[in-house]
Amino acid sequence: MAIRLGNEAPDFTAETTEGTVNFHEWIDGSWAVLFSHPKDFTPVCTTELGKVSKLKAEFDKRGVKVIGLSVDSLESHTEWIKDINETQNTTVNYPLIADPDRKTAMLYDMLDAGSEGNLTARSVFIIGPDKKIKLMINYPASTGRNFSEILRVIDSVQLTANYSVATPADWNNGDDCIIVPSVSDEEIPEKFPKGHNRIKPYLRTTPQPNI
Ligand code: BEZ
Repeated sequence: MAIRLGNEAPDFTAETTEGTVNFHEWIDGSWAVLFSHPKDFTPVCTTELGKVSKLKAEFDKRGVKVIGLSVDSLESHTEWIKDINETQNTTVNYPLIADPDRKTAMLYDMLDAGSEGNLTARSVFIIGPDKKIKLMINYPASTGRNFSEILRVIDSVQLTANYSVATPADWNNGDDCIIVPSVSDEEIPEKFPKGHNRIKPYLRTTPQPNI
């Protein structure tokens, strides 16, 4: 089945640096981020894995488990992590999937056709507690990801999963939100007691409801 927003995240069992993981069991009702890397012992990936380990507390705060994937062996990952810890001044604190046969990379359509299918893209999947895919982004190998953006999107998808709001361009946690069009003007006072601003019939904003 195609990988699309709203589809169930494909399940798999794989070796990781923290033991064998069955993905759906590992998610276990949490939110999850699965992010892939083109290759071990590469400079951009080294900085990314270090960055995510430094942001682990931010993911934990949001109830999000993180798991990386790189298409090399477990032995290679174990050696690489020593370099990541040393050069990025951190301790990698989440599992990294070994995918030497690219089984999981293919399952998630992570291969980058621009690299003649040789490399995995820097894919990011945010998966909800219902195991459905809430976000997917692919970056080319040459561009390291902005993980603050991933945390910003998590804040948005967690908020909009629970309230009848959407988040506008460049929204950050704490900013005003948009009331979704399915909420009638009459329903607004009860649903959004903090007040609202009716800029157009289709553009109505309210203070962020969950803070
Ligand atoms: C990197 O992580 O530095 C990288 C990996 C593959 C291609 C280009 C850069």
